[in-house]
Amino acid sequence: MTRHYITFRDLSKEEYEAVFQRAAHLKKARREGRYHFPHLAGRSVGMIFNKNSTRTRVSFESAITELGGHAIVLAASETQISRGEAPSHTARVLSRYLSALVIRTYEETELTDLAAHATIPIINGLTNQRHPCQVLTDVFTLVETLEAEKLEDQIVAWIGDGHNMANTWLEAAAVFGFGLHLACPQGYQPDKAILAKAQADNPKIKLFDSPLEAVKGARAVNTDVFTSMGQEKEIKQRLKDFAGYQVTKELMAKAAPQAIFLHCLPAHIGEEVTEEVLESPASLVFEEAENRLHAQKALLEFLIPSL
Ligand code: CP
Ligand code: NVA
Repeated sequence: MTRHYITFRDLSKEEYEAVFQRAAHLKKARREGRYHFPHLAGRSVGMIFNKNSTRTRVSFESAITELGGHAIVLAASETQISRGEAPSHTARVLSRYLSALVIRTYEETELTDLAAHATIPIINGLTNQRHPCQVLTDVFTLVETLEAEKLEDQIVAWIGDGHNMANTWLEAAAVFGFGLHLACPQGYQPDKAILAKAQADNPKIKLFDSPLEAVKGARAVNTDVFTSMGQEKEIKQRLKDFAGYQVTKELMAKAAPQAIFLHCLPAHIGEEVTEEVLESPASLVFEEAENRLHAQKALLEFLIPSL
Protein backbone atom coordinates (compact mmCIF):
# COMPACT_ATOMS: atom_id res chain seq x y z
CA MET A 1 0.00 0.00 0.00
CA THR A 2 1.35 3.45 -0.91
CA ARG A 3 1.91 5.60 2.17
CA HIS A 4 1.33 9.31 1.70
CA TYR A 5 2.28 12.11 4.11
CA ILE A 6 -0.38 14.75 3.72
CA THR A 7 -1.61 15.21 7.29
CA PHE A 8 0.29 14.72 10.53
CA ARG A 9 -2.12 11.87 11.30
CA ASP A 10 -0.78 9.80 8.40
CA LEU A 11 1.77 8.20 10.75
CA SER A 12 1.06 6.57 14.12
CA LYS A 13 2.86 7.48 17.35
CA GLU A 14 4.91 4.28 17.09
CA GLU A 15 5.88 5.08 13.49
CA TYR A 16 6.97 8.58 14.53
CA GLU A 17 9.06 7.11 17.31
CA ALA A 18 10.88 4.93 14.76
CA VAL A 19 11.32 7.92 12.41
CA PHE A 20 12.71 10.04 15.28
CA GLN A 21 15.17 7.30 16.24
CA ARG A 22 16.36 7.05 12.67
CA ALA A 23 16.58 10.86 12.35
CA ALA A 24 18.74 11.00 15.50
CA HIS A 25 21.00 8.30 14.05
CA LEU A 26 21.32 10.10 10.69
CA LYS A 27 22.02 13.41 12.47
CA LYS A 28 24.79 11.90 14.58
CA ALA A 29 26.31 10.14 11.57
CA ARG A 30 26.28 13.32 9.50
CA ARG A 31 27.95 15.27 12.30
CA GLU A 32 30.66 12.60 12.27
CA GLY A 33 31.08 13.17 8.53
CA ARG A 34 29.02 10.19 7.32
CA TYR A 35 26.49 11.69 4.91
CA HIS A 36 25.76 8.89 2.55
CA PHE A 37 22.93 6.40 3.24
CA PRO A 38 21.96 5.25 -0.26
CA HIS A 39 18.31 4.30 0.24
CA LEU A 40 17.38 6.24 -2.92
CA ALA A 41 20.38 5.23 -5.07
CA GLY A 42 19.53 5.69 -8.72
CA ARG A 43 16.03 6.97 -8.00
CA SER A 44 14.38 10.37 -8.41
CA VAL A 45 12.07 12.37 -6.18
CA GLY A 46 10.01 15.22 -7.63
CA MET A 47 9.30 18.50 -5.84
CA ILE A 48 6.69 20.94 -7.11
CA PHE A 49 6.49 24.42 -5.61
CA ASN A 50 3.54 26.73 -6.03
CA LYS A 51 4.81 29.03 -3.22
CA ASN A 52 8.26 30.27 -2.24
CA SER A 53 10.57 28.16 -0.08
CA THR A 54 14.09 28.17 1.34
CA ARG A 55 14.17 25.43 3.99
CA THR A 56 11.75 22.94 2.50
CA ARG A 57 13.34 23.06 -0.91
CA VAL A 58 16.97 22.95 0.20
CA SER A 59 16.56 20.47 3.06
CA PHE A 60 14.61 18.03 0.87
CA GLU A 61 16.97 18.44 -2.06
CA SER A 62 20.00 17.83 0.19
CA ALA A 63 18.25 14.93 1.91
CA ILE A 64 17.52 13.27 -1.44
CA THR A 65 21.12 13.76 -2.61
CA GLU A 66 22.53 12.36 0.64
CA LEU A 67 20.23 9.35 0.29
CA GLY A 68 21.83 8.73 -3.10
CA GLY A 69 18.88 9.97 -5.15
CA HIS A 70 18.19 12.82 -7.52
CA ALA A 71 15.75 15.67 -6.85
CA ILE A 72 13.76 17.17 -9.71
CA VAL A 73 12.56 20.58 -8.54
CA LEU A 74 9.85 22.34 -10.53
CA ALA A 75 7.83 25.50 -10.14
CA ALA A 76 4.17 24.55 -10.57
CA SER A 77 3.93 27.26 -13.24
CA GLU A 78 6.44 25.35 -15.40
CA THR A 79 4.35 22.19 -15.42
CA GLN A 80 1.16 21.21 -17.20
CA ILE A 81 -0.58 21.23 -13.80
CA SER A 82 -0.87 25.02 -14.08
CA ARG A 83 -2.45 24.56 -17.53
CA GLY A 84 -5.13 22.32 -16.08
CA GLU A 85 -3.85 18.78 -16.71
CA ALA A 86 -6.05 16.41 -14.73
CA PRO A 87 -4.56 15.41 -11.34
CA SER A 88 -5.40 11.79 -12.14
CA HIS A 89 -3.24 11.98 -15.28
CA THR A 90 -0.40 13.89 -13.58
CA ALA A 91 -0.36 11.41 -10.70
CA ARG A 92 -0.29 8.35 -12.94
CA VAL A 93 2.43 9.78 -15.18
CA LEU A 94 4.71 10.99 -12.37
CA SER A 95 4.27 7.68 -10.52
CA ARG A 96 5.98 6.02 -13.49
CA TYR A 97 9.09 8.24 -13.22
CA LEU A 98 9.53 9.08 -9.57
CA SER A 99 9.84 7.39 -6.18
CA ALA A 100 7.97 10.16 -4.33
CA LEU A 101 6.57 13.63 -4.95
CA VAL A 102 6.81 16.58 -2.53
CA ILE A 103 4.32 19.39 -3.21
CA ARG A 104 3.92 22.87 -1.73
CA THR A 105 0.73 24.60 -2.77
CA TYR A 106 -2.41 26.43 -1.62
CA GLU A 107 -5.34 24.04 -1.28
CA GLU A 108 -4.66 20.62 0.18
CA THR A 109 -7.29 19.05 -2.08
CA GLU A 110 -4.64 19.36 -4.84
CA LEU A 111 -2.58 16.82 -2.88
CA THR A 112 -5.45 14.51 -2.02
CA ASP A 113 -6.56 14.54 -5.68
CA LEU A 114 -3.06 13.45 -6.74
CA ALA A 115 -2.78 10.91 -3.92
CA ALA A 116 -6.03 9.26 -5.03
CA HIS A 117 -4.28 8.20 -8.25
CA ALA A 118 -0.59 8.05 -7.30
CA THR A 119 1.31 4.85 -6.64
CA ILE A 120 4.21 6.80 -5.08
CA PRO A 121 4.13 8.72 -1.77
CA ILE A 122 2.70 12.24 -2.03
CA ILE A 123 4.39 14.41 0.61
CA ASN A 124 2.91 17.67 1.85
CA GLY A 125 5.55 20.41 1.65
CA LEU A 126 3.03 22.97 3.06
CA THR A 127 -0.52 23.85 2.17
CA ASN A 128 -2.91 26.49 3.51
CA GLN A 129 -4.21 23.79 5.83
CA ARG A 130 -1.09 22.00 7.12
CA HIS A 131 2.73 21.80 7.29
CA PRO A 132 3.43 18.27 8.55
CA CYS A 133 7.13 18.03 7.56
CA GLN A 134 7.77 21.09 9.73
CA VAL A 135 5.84 19.83 12.75
CA LEU A 136 7.43 16.37 12.39
CA THR A 137 10.75 18.21 12.76
CA ASP A 138 9.51 20.43 15.58
CA VAL A 139 8.31 17.49 17.67
CA PHE A 140 11.64 15.74 16.97
CA THR A 141 13.46 18.90 18.12
CA LEU A 142 11.39 19.00 21.31
CA VAL A 143 12.00 15.29 21.98
CA GLU A 144 15.76 15.81 21.56
CA THR A 145 15.72 18.40 24.35
CA LEU A 146 13.59 16.38 26.77
CA GLU A 147 16.03 13.61 27.71
CA ALA A 148 14.36 11.86 30.70
CA GLU A 149 11.12 13.89 30.60
CA LYS A 150 8.17 12.32 28.76
CA LEU A 151 6.67 14.06 25.72
CA GLU A 152 3.09 13.34 26.80
CA ASP A 153 3.69 15.13 30.13
CA GLN A 154 4.67 18.39 28.41
CA ILE A 155 2.70 21.49 27.48
CA VAL A 156 3.38 23.21 24.16
CA ALA A 157 2.09 26.77 23.75
CA TRP A 158 1.01 28.10 20.37
CA ILE A 159 0.85 31.90 20.19
CA GLY A 160 -0.48 33.72 17.12
CA ASP A 161 -2.10 32.66 13.88
CA GLY A 162 -4.31 29.57 13.84
CA HIS A 163 -3.21 28.77 10.30
CA ASN A 164 -1.36 25.79 8.74
CA MET A 165 1.26 25.44 11.50
CA ALA A 166 -1.27 25.63 14.35
CA ASN A 167 -3.57 23.13 12.60
CA THR A 168 -0.69 20.69 12.29
CA TRP A 169 0.32 21.12 15.95
CA LEU A 170 -3.29 20.19 16.84
CA GLU A 171 -2.88 16.94 14.95
CA ALA A 172 0.52 16.35 16.59
CA ALA A 173 -1.04 16.80 20.04
CA ALA A 174 -3.76 14.33 19.06
CA VAL A 175 -1.16 11.75 17.95
CA PHE A 176 1.24 12.18 20.91
CA GLY A 177 -1.09 13.19 23.74
CA PHE A 178 0.86 16.23 25.02
CA GLY A 179 -0.88 19.38 26.26
CA LEU A 180 -1.35 22.09 23.64
CA HIS A 181 -2.37 25.57 24.78
CA LEU A 182 -3.26 27.96 21.98
CA ALA A 183 -3.76 31.71 22.11
CA CYS A 184 -4.96 33.05 18.75
CA PRO A 185 -6.73 36.40 18.20
CA GLN A 186 -10.47 36.45 17.52
CA GLY A 187 -11.05 35.58 13.86
CA TYR A 188 -7.74 33.72 13.56
CA GLN A 189 -8.62 30.47 15.32
CA PRO A 190 -7.47 27.13 13.87
CA ASP A 191 -9.56 25.13 11.43
CA LYS A 192 -12.79 24.14 13.24
CA ALA A 193 -12.89 20.54 12.00
CA ILE A 194 -9.21 19.87 12.76
CA LEU A 195 -9.63 21.43 16.23
CA ALA A 196 -12.78 19.46 17.08
CA LYS A 197 -11.24 16.15 15.99
CA ALA A 198 -8.02 16.84 17.88
CA GLN A 199 -9.85 17.86 21.06
CA ALA A 200 -11.98 14.71 20.86
CA ASP A 201 -8.75 12.68 20.92
CA ASN A 202 -6.88 14.84 23.42
CA PRO A 203 -8.71 16.84 26.11
CA LYS A 204 -5.40 18.54 27.01
CA ILE A 205 -5.80 20.76 23.92
CA LYS A 206 -7.10 24.12 25.17
CA LEU A 207 -7.77 27.56 23.71
CA PHE A 208 -6.91 30.69 25.72
CA ASP A 209 -7.68 34.36 25.09
CA SER A 210 -4.45 35.54 26.64
CA PRO A 211 -0.93 34.52 25.54
CA LEU A 212 0.12 34.94 29.22
CA GLU A 213 -2.33 32.23 30.25
CA ALA A 214 -1.42 29.96 27.32
CA VAL A 215 2.32 29.88 28.08
CA LYS A 216 1.94 29.02 31.78
CA GLY A 217 3.98 25.86 32.42
CA ALA A 218 4.82 25.44 28.71
CA ARG A 219 7.99 23.48 27.88
CA ALA A 220 7.97 24.93 24.35
CA VAL A 221 6.64 28.26 23.11
CA ASN A 222 5.93 28.29 19.42
CA THR A 223 4.81 30.90 16.95
CA ASP A 224 4.67 31.70 13.22
CA VAL A 225 4.36 34.78 11.03
CA PHE A 226 1.18 36.85 11.35
CA THR A 227 0.79 36.93 7.55
CA SER A 228 1.35 33.65 5.73
CA MET A 229 2.04 33.11 2.05
CA GLY A 230 -1.09 33.95 0.08
CA GLN A 231 -2.40 36.41 2.71
CA GLU A 232 -0.22 39.38 1.76
CA LYS A 233 -3.21 41.64 1.02
CA GLU A 234 -4.32 41.33 4.67
CA ILE A 235 -1.00 42.44 6.15
CA LYS A 236 -2.14 45.84 7.52
CA GLN A 237 -5.27 44.44 9.15
CA ARG A 238 -3.37 41.49 10.56
CA LEU A 239 -0.74 43.71 12.19
CA LYS A 240 -3.60 45.44 14.06
CA ASP A 241 -5.44 42.24 14.93
CA PHE A 242 -2.32 40.47 16.24
CA ALA A 243 -1.29 43.30 18.61
CA GLY A 244 -0.41 41.69 21.95
CA TYR A 245 0.47 38.32 20.42
CA GLN A 246 4.21 38.92 20.12
CA VAL A 247 6.54 36.44 21.85
CA THR A 248 8.64 38.64 24.13
CA LYS A 249 11.16 38.02 26.93
CA GLU A 250 8.36 38.81 29.40
CA LEU A 251 6.09 36.18 27.84
CA MET A 252 8.90 33.56 27.80
CA ALA A 253 9.46 34.30 31.51
CA LYS A 254 5.91 33.05 32.25
CA ALA A 255 6.59 29.67 30.59
CA ALA A 256 8.35 26.72 32.33
CA PRO A 257 11.87 27.65 33.53
CA GLN A 258 13.57 25.47 30.89
CA ALA A 259 11.14 26.45 28.09
CA ILE A 260 12.44 26.44 24.52
CA PHE A 261 11.35 28.77 21.74
CA LEU A 262 10.44 27.31 18.35
CA HIS A 263 9.62 29.04 15.06
CA CYS A 264 9.39 27.34 11.67
CA LEU A 265 11.01 30.39 10.01
CA PRO A 266 11.07 32.66 8.09
CA ALA A 267 10.51 35.04 11.02
CA HIS A 268 9.41 38.65 10.92
CA ILE A 269 11.46 40.15 13.73
CA GLY A 270 9.53 42.73 15.70
CA GLU A 271 6.17 41.30 14.62
CA GLU A 272 5.46 37.82 16.04
CA VAL A 273 8.74 37.63 18.01
CA THR A 274 11.40 39.98 19.32
CA GLU A 275 15.01 39.67 18.21
CA GLU A 276 15.93 39.19 21.88
CA VAL A 277 13.83 35.99 22.10
CA LEU A 278 14.84 34.65 18.69
CA GLU A 279 18.54 35.09 19.52
CA SER A 280 18.26 33.92 23.15
CA PRO A 281 19.73 30.63 24.44
CA ALA A 282 16.15 29.30 24.74
CA SER A 283 15.67 29.67 21.00
CA LEU A 284 16.27 26.47 19.03
CA VAL A 285 15.18 27.90 15.69
CA PHE A 286 18.38 27.16 13.78
CA GLU A 287 18.69 23.66 15.26
CA GLU A 288 15.05 23.22 14.27
CA ALA A 289 15.83 24.33 10.71
CA GLU A 290 18.79 21.90 10.54
CA ASN A 291 16.57 19.12 11.83
CA ARG A 292 14.35 19.43 8.74
CA LEU A 293 17.17 17.67 6.86
CA HIS A 294 17.56 14.78 9.30
CA ALA A 295 13.84 14.28 9.96
CA GLN A 296 12.95 14.35 6.25
CA LYS A 297 15.70 11.84 5.41
CA ALA A 298 14.16 9.48 7.97
CA LEU A 299 10.69 10.22 6.57
CA LEU A 300 11.78 9.48 2.98
CA GLU A 301 13.36 6.19 4.09
CA PHE A 302 10.13 5.33 5.91
CA LEU A 303 7.74 6.22 3.09
CA ILE A 304 9.69 4.96 0.07
CA PRO A 305 10.01 1.17 -0.01
CA SER A 306 13.49 -0.30 -0.55
CA LEU A 307 14.10 -1.78 -3.97
N1 CP B 1 9.77 26.51 7.46
C1 CP B 1 9.68 26.41 6.12
O1 CP B 1 8.94 25.57 5.58
O2 CP B 1 10.47 27.26 5.44
P1 CP B 1 10.47 27.55 3.88
O3 CP B 1 9.22 28.32 3.57
O4 CP B 1 11.71 28.35 3.66
O5 CP B 1 10.48 26.24 3.13
N1 NVA C 1 2.50 29.89 7.96
C1 NVA C 1 3.62 30.16 7.09
C2 NVA C 1 4.65 29.10 7.22
C3 NVA C 1 5.88 29.28 6.36
C4 NVA C 1 6.86 28.15 6.50
C5 NVA C 1 3.11 30.27 5.65
O1 NVA C 1 2.24 29.47 5.27
O2 NVA C 1 3.56 31.17 4.93
